[in-house]
Amino acid sequence: MTTFVKADAAGQKTLDAHWYRSPETFALERERVFAREWICAGRMEHLQRAGDFFLAEIARESVIVVRDQHDEIRAFFNVCRHRGTRICEMQSGHFTGSIQCPYHAWTYALDGRLKVARNMADVEGFSVDDYPLHAVRAATWEGFIFVCLSPDTPPFETVFEPIAHRFRRWHIADLRTARTIRYDLRCNWKLIFQNYSECYHCPLVHPQLDKLSPSDSGRNDLSEGRFLGGYSELRNHGASLTTTGATSRPPVGEVDGADIDRVYYYTLFPSMLLSLHPDYVMVHYANPVAPDRTLVDCAWLFDPQTMSRADFDPTDAVEFWDMTNRQDWHVNELTQKGIESRAYTPGVYANAEGLLAAFDRHYMSTMS
Ligand code: FES
Ligand SMILES: [Fe+2]
Repeated sequence: MTTFVKADAAGQKTLDAHWYRSPETFALERERVFAREWICAGRMEHLQRAGDFFLAEIARESVIVVRDQHDEIRAFFNVCRHRGTRICEMQSGHFTGSIQCPYHAWTYALDGRLKVARNMADVEGFSVDDYPLHAVRAATWEGFIFVCLSPDTPPFETVFEPIAHRFRRWHIADLRTARTIRYDLRCNWKLIFQNYSECYHCPLVHPQLDKLSPSDSGRNDLSEGRFLGGYSELRNHGASLTTTGATSRPPVGEVDGADIDRVYYYTLFPSMLLSLHPDYVMVHYANPVAPDRTLVDCAWLFDPQTMSRADFDPTDAVEFWDMTNRQDWHVNELTQKGIESRAYTPGVYANAEGLLAAFDRHYMSTMS
């Protein structure tokens, strides 16, 4: 049973400037947040066969994510156990049975075991059993692959328990990515999460979105902690967020009833935004690279059956959100510029920004 909670900001103020611009704070955040939390690295659909892999960049670490010979998803630090060399440079591809370092050809099985180390037999006490690739924890949920660099973080199932089954109706695991757009934003990653968490700005910044979905129709159903969000209503029955305001695609999964006329928006701290539309799902993957720079990959996911139709065309959804994304990126970059001014002092959140106050509270608890 879903309960809707009014997330009141209660006069809470925005964060001090250093949280958005200081290199020291950014380095601390890398350790306390990104090297500790479960971070979304990609989708299982991109690792179809044993040996398929992609690289993920997390907290300045390169991680190899691979489907092993037993069909298990595994992750490893991209670091050779011989002299530490980065093993794999290709962003994605296929390992034919093993992972080989390009320097002296130490060769690892897809499950990380060291199989062959050339000319090492005469080294006293050396055993290949002692030098597997350093493993990174990996877990899967709704077709997404999550990795965690820290051995001390609680298991994925514990951390994600509050939303483990929440989005079942959309059958997200079955959906497939039709398009991905990479954006390079000149702003701190937290501004992206905060901007996503309110529609106070929608009438001004997104006239097209406001036309399809009233900015005051939002209701929060997760208003404290790591996962935050709720839904907004679509003005017209059977509509969706597209350039035409309509859709010819059937709902995904088992979406019906009131959900046909809603779009759900959730922030999954600290790497992901999940937007559930009746006929498609959109995901933003955020990767902070500097205090004032964040890479965001935005992906549009659809039902594979719908995608196999001759007339399938995701452009109406992609173009609508590409426009809306850019409108958001622009105000986020303006905010970053303003926070970099010596004149910036924390401001007061509106009550329509209750989720931002909650985001800041959770963030501060993670950083302390
Ligand atoms: S550093 Fe990898 S085999 Fe030598
Ligand atoms: Fe927005």
